[in-house]
Amino acid sequence: MSARRVYLDWNATTPPLPEVVEVMRATALEAWGNPASVHAEGRKARALIETLREAIARLVESDPRDVVLTSGGTEANNLALSGAEALVASRLDHPSVTKAAEALAARGVPVVWLPIPRSGRLDPDSVREALGSLGPGATVAITAVNHETGVVQPVSEIFEVVRGGEARLHVDAVQAVGKVEPELFRRADSIALGAHKLRGPKGIGALVFRGNPSRLRPLTWGGSQERGLRPGTQDAVLAAGFLASLAHSADGPARYARLAAERDRIEAALAGLAEPNVTEHRVAHVSSLHVPGARGDELVAALDLAGVAVSSGSACSAGSAEASPVLRAMLGEERAQRSIRVSLGDGTTADDVGFAISVLVRVLPPPTAIA
Ligand SMILES: Cc1ncc(COP(=O)(O)O)c(C=O)c1O
Repeated sequence: MSARRVYLDWNATTPPLPEVVEVMRATALEAWGNPASVHAEGRKARALIETLREAIARLVESDPRDVVLTSGGTEANNLALSGAEALVASRLDHPSVTKAAEALAARGVPVVWLPIPRSGRLDPDSVREALGSLGPGATVAITAVNHETGVVQPVSEIFEVVRGGEARLHVDAVQAVGKVEPELFRRADSIALGAHKLRGPKGIGALVFRGNPSRLRPLTWGGSQERGLRPGTQDAVLAAGFLASLAHSADGPARYARLAAERDRIEAALAGLAEPNVTEHRVAHVSSLHVPGARGDELVAALDLAGVAVSSGSACSAGSAEASPVLRAMLGEERAQRSIRVSLGDGTTADDVGFAISVLVRVLPPPTAIA
């Protein structure tokens, strides 16, 4: 077991910022009131909830009333799709979209799955075709930045197609916020966000939903918090943490863009041992690597022992040997089984990358081992 640890699994989650932890501690002691209470204690907690709502609305140029606070990206995606009358989605989406789509289909809602190019980048014409078979009023779900490959979808082009088809566009921006400029996703009709991918706490996210909220079917029933769309006592502690992480991520896109040099350094050092699954239209901090001679899940375990944290598949399927559904859809089962994801973050240093390269070069099987 290596004493040194280098964390290169930032797409799974990110280490919380010290200021996030500090503000959460202070809030837990000072703003513990119930945000729904009218007295001063309640108002103090409510102020934080509303400040967060305004910050999210500003990020996507929306009205604060469009922002529904949720337990994270999963719930935001589930809620966004809950009332869809017809849906277009793809196997590139996170399970919180694909499984929600399957549940809708089981209820009799028409669902069309988009064809997946090997590039992992959707073709706007395929969206047009799918909408043609569904008619107006459908919802199209896309993931702005893919969690497994880092591929950036042509969101604007798809948005134009969706507008033309009188449909709605839902964008899962969980991996995009703080990593790319918000122009990429902010025009969508609904947007899912989560705090823990941007150095905030787990257990909080948001759905921005423009238009008539009666199109949503609440997933839980209770009080009138979040306009009844997400009832239950809100947590000012999580809200304060999310708010601090959003403030930090305002200049995140510039910080993340600079990681391209480190990502490229890793890929260059691994030439002959591993090959990137995609090289175009991707964010700077993610490398999905095909390692021909080894299974991804076994490599993850070996690299972990040697001090480097990466992933195969997505974290939600970790623990099972299931290969990445995204890579399977793009490139087939064999390649999906033999790939790892290296994801850097704004705390990754050149020294971390140097250490990770020395470990990767040692652990990845040499070309002679390739059958
Ligand atoms: C693209 C994407 N969407 C949604 C989610 C789910 O977010 P959360 O973990 O906040 O439920 C994730 C998390 O891995 C993700 O990467």
